[in-house]
Amino acid sequence: MEITAKQLVANFSQQSINSLNPHPIQTIARQLASSTSPQQEQMASSLPSNIRALLQPDIHSTDLILTSMPLQPTQPNTSEHLIKVLATAPCAGELLWAKNFPGFIPRDHPFVPCFDLSGTVVTAPPASPFQPGAHVYTRTPATRTGNAREYAVALTSELAAKPRNLSWEEAASVPLSALTAYQALFVHGGLAAGWKSEAGRAANGTKRVLITAAAAGVGVWLVQLARAAGVREVVGIAGPQNAEFVKGLGASEVIDYKAQELGEWAKENEKVDLVVDLLGGKTLESAWGTVKDGGILLSVSQPPNTAKPDDRTSKDVQDKFFIMEPDGWQLDEVRDLIEAGEAKPVVDSVWKLEQFKEAFAKVASGHTRGKVIIKVQDD
Ligand SMILES: NC(=O)c1ccc[n+]([C@@H]2O[C@H](COP(=O)([O-])OP(=O)(O)OC[C@H]3O[C@@H](n4cnc5c(N)ncnc54)[C@H](OP(=O)(O)O)[C@@H]3O)[C@@H](O)[C@H]2O)c1
Repeated sequence: MEITAKQLVANFSQQSINSLNPHPIQTIARQLASSTSPQQEQMASSLPSNIRALLQPDIHSTDLILTSMPLQPTQPNTSEHLIKVLATAPCAGELLWAKNFPGFIPRDHPFVPCFDLSGTVVTAPPASPFQPGAHVYTRTPATRTGNAREYAVALTSELAAKPRNLSWEEAASVPLSALTAYQALFVHGGLAAGWKSEAGRAANGTKRVLITAAAAGVGVWLVQLARAAGVREVVGIAGPQNAEFVKGLGASEVIDYKAQELGEWAKENEKVDLVVDLLGGKTLESAWGTVKDGGILLSVSQPPNTAKPDDRTSKDVQDKFFIMEPDGWQLDEVRDLIEAGEAKPVVDSVWKLEQFKEAFAKVASGHTRGKVIIKVQDD
């Protein structure tokens, strides 16, 4: 018997949803029976048994469906928290990860996209600093079920208190991008978090950094964190419509990628200590020519050595590709900078959950300024 595409999607969704947990609401009820917190009991008593969620039924297609799935219970004796998700954010390219990195993204659970979230804690382990009612933000690992759903799960180590001066939508724009930027600059890039130490700030004050897509989701955080850390010069690449915007974030110079090829710029300008590339391809290839001897070339898009030109001149350049880690303590530092007015979120646009196609299409256009946000539900 021939099966239609519609039936295939329906079968997939039902099988995936069934495999998630046969009796989730009963499990949550059992967990709550042992709770002594009236606030926790009150919040949990209003939980639905089924929630709205986005699903990617087929890893070979970037099509998504808006469907219903059971509420995922947290596991007892773990650091899992159940979070009411208020806003989330797609990441460029994420619907191709399962296809392109089959060993990295397990398919033993339904693929719900979007790994950023802002929301309210519903249930928490007894010793957690994030108790029911706490306002949190986080980026959870892409190896787990994502956050484009009304309730999601996050671990203590991944969570941080949401910046008090941000809306839910602004807060959801921060975690993945700011964590990637933080780790590029201060874990892999040889810079010090200059707001924590005078010596680190002084060392950064001799450094010149190049960011290849300075108006991008990650780019806006690279510019702001490098500037907050006291880097001497931050050079950003951006289109002409974003030049003033990127300067306003703290870039000392903006290269207009539509007017000047990066290889040409490298011939006429002082080389940099660190490049952080977000684009790969031709830009990454040209970026090799912008790094000084002993400098660092990072990319979160593609391993730099796969785009290394034959005529590279600088010596002893360290090159690295990395995948960011979700670390709540780094989000604490970012929150402190945001609350102190040293950095700010950049939201390209906000879409309702039912408008997920428009939201993902905007991201796929490759021409967003900051992050595209999906508002999952009201507070
Ligand atoms: N490895 C990791 O852990 C990790 C973590 C986060 C993200 N990533 C990856 O990093 C990449 C960037 O992510 P994102 O969210 O920052 O991207 P994004 O926000 O979707 O990037 C869009 C931005 O790129 C700019 N842009 C496009 N072409 C450009 C060019 N030739 N030169 C300069 N700017 C250009 C656009 O500016 P215009 O409108 O002016 O064109 C726009 O502002 C993605 O591939 C993502 O998957 C990897």
